[in-house]
Amino acid sequence: MRKLIAGNWKMNGTAADLGELRTLAQQHPDPSVDIVICGPATLLSRMAETGLMIGGEDCHPAASGAHTGDISAPMLADAGASHVITGHSERRSDHGEDDALIAAKTQAAWAADLHVILCIGESEAQYRAGKTLDVLRRQLDHSVPDGATAATTTIAYEPIWAIGTGLTPTPQEIADVHSALRAHLTARFGEDGAQMRLLYGGSVKASNAADIFALDHVDGALVGGASLKAADFSPIITAL
Ligand code: G3H
Repeated sequence: MRKLIAGNWKMNGTAADLGELRTLAQQHPDPSVDIVICGPATLLSRMAETGLMIGGEDCHPAASGAHTGDISAPMLADAGASHVITGHSERRSDHGEDDALIAAKTQAAWAADLHVILCIGESEAQYRAGKTLDVLRRQLDHSVPDGATAATTTIAYEPIWAIGTGLTPTPQEIADVHSALRAHLTARFGEDGAQMRLLYGGSVKASNAADIFALDHVDGALVGGASLKAADFSPIITAL
């Protein structure tokens, strides 16, 4: 499985920002890793015109229907997306999404042939209480549906307290968590769990990317703020 670097534009970006993606595509015409930009639904079809792989930031568990304001997985695929994020902590906190809903969204995404980047992560209080691995194993057990494979699913570990804060766990902490996640996934999914990509996310930037990517069982990153500008994102891609 190739390594993966994913950007998450969150609720940022208008047509004026598409030049950043055109620049990125020109800078990485034949990448040795997968590069995916997850963006707002309003921009996806135009993002896809850059030739980069594109992803949604969320999807509804139903394929269609009376759900005003929501976007389904087939709609994302129709707009040119090949990937979608599920379970991001901002969806969990802003919209009260629980593991069961995230599992349903993930299955809907698979049904639309989208590769899922499924996010898990502990809060600062859970981290301080030494509960990180308990929380992550519970999220894996309940939000990753049976039948997950390395080809359909990537797991992103994002400590909530590291997102957008400039704080990161120590390299040893990231290594320990990723090693535990690998063991847990392998016990449940066998060879697919052993091959499933594990991304780290949370304040990844050019200055810390190489140290994080050097760790065992870190197969890439999910990058928020530093994915918005090609000048910030490109060196992170190069570091992978
Ligand atoms: O999805 C991306 C993460 O939430 C990380 O965001 O790189 O701005 O900390 P950040």
